[in-house]
Amino acid sequence: MALISKGRIKGLDLKKEFRIRSMKPYSSFASPLAESLADKECFPYDSVPNFPVSTVPGHRGQLVFGLLDGVPVMCMQGRFHYYEGYPICKCAMPIRVMKMVGINYLIATNAAGGLNEKYKVGDIMIIKDHVNFLGFAGVNPLRGPNDERFGPRFPAVSRAYDAKLRAAAMRIGKEMGIGHQIQEGVYTCLGGPSFETVAELAAMKILGIDAVGMSTTYEVIVACHSGMTVFAFSLITNKCVTTYDEEVMPNHEEVIQTGKENEEVLKAFVSRIVQHITQN
Ligand code: 6GU
Repeated sequence: MALISKGRIKGLDLKKEFRIRSMKPYSSFASPLAESLADKECFPYDSVPNFPVSTVPGHRGQLVFGLLDGVPVMCMQGRFHYYEGYPICKCAMPIRVMKMVGINYLIATNAAGGLNEKYKVGDIMIIKDHVNFLGFAGVNPLRGPNDERFGPRFPAVSRAYDAKLRAAAMRIGKEMGIGHQIQEGVYTCLGGPSFETVAELAAMKILGIDAVGMSTTYEVIVACHSGMTVFAFSLITNKCVTTYDEEVMPNHEEVIQTGKENEEVLKAFVSRIVQHITQN
């Protein structure tokens, strides 16, 4: 995620202007991007006041600041999911920290199951909109007293995913020669950690959902609330299992494997989008 930082947060020594990128803790494509930054400066999550602490074994979690092809960015190395047990506002709290350090652009990535039959494993789905099932059940990161310093009580999220950045990303994908891999669609976030049943997926198809995951929507809601410009995409790591007689069951190993296989192209894609943001 690429966000511009123009400020300071108490307790952190942020010397420069930064941009930011957020990532999935288990994802194998996001973390390497953080590692590849130049002039890195890292802040373990437990050094940031009130920050959630990653539950991933052997994974401390940290904010990584540095340069992505010369552009100052901030990355989350480790991200928070509802299924880990945190309240949803805690899952989205890093976005508030980003806002507080002055960041204005968010690039959110995730691994998702492809529900749209046209999608192939390895496709990149630019998110044009979402269906936040957690929100249907009242699990919204903005629930509770509203902090007016960040944004309004009843924020509109009907244009959460910036149309210009979506168009630019489509162009960039074509220029990179991966146009055949680029899709644009509707993402949904479920609570997890169980994958979906066949009946649930059938219902979601009727609702026009193209890809299914367990993250991102709560972060985008908080980013949108505080006026950040958002770009997000899903890597389609696996096809959703939509019939009872498929031999392969959804599994995390496939998610990880597809992430690894697409690491380099995703890094290049994100880097070019960040370049585009700085140049426009
Ligand atoms: Cl198939 N479902 C969900 N909820 N999340 C996923 C996924 C599927 N594949 C990757 N992440």
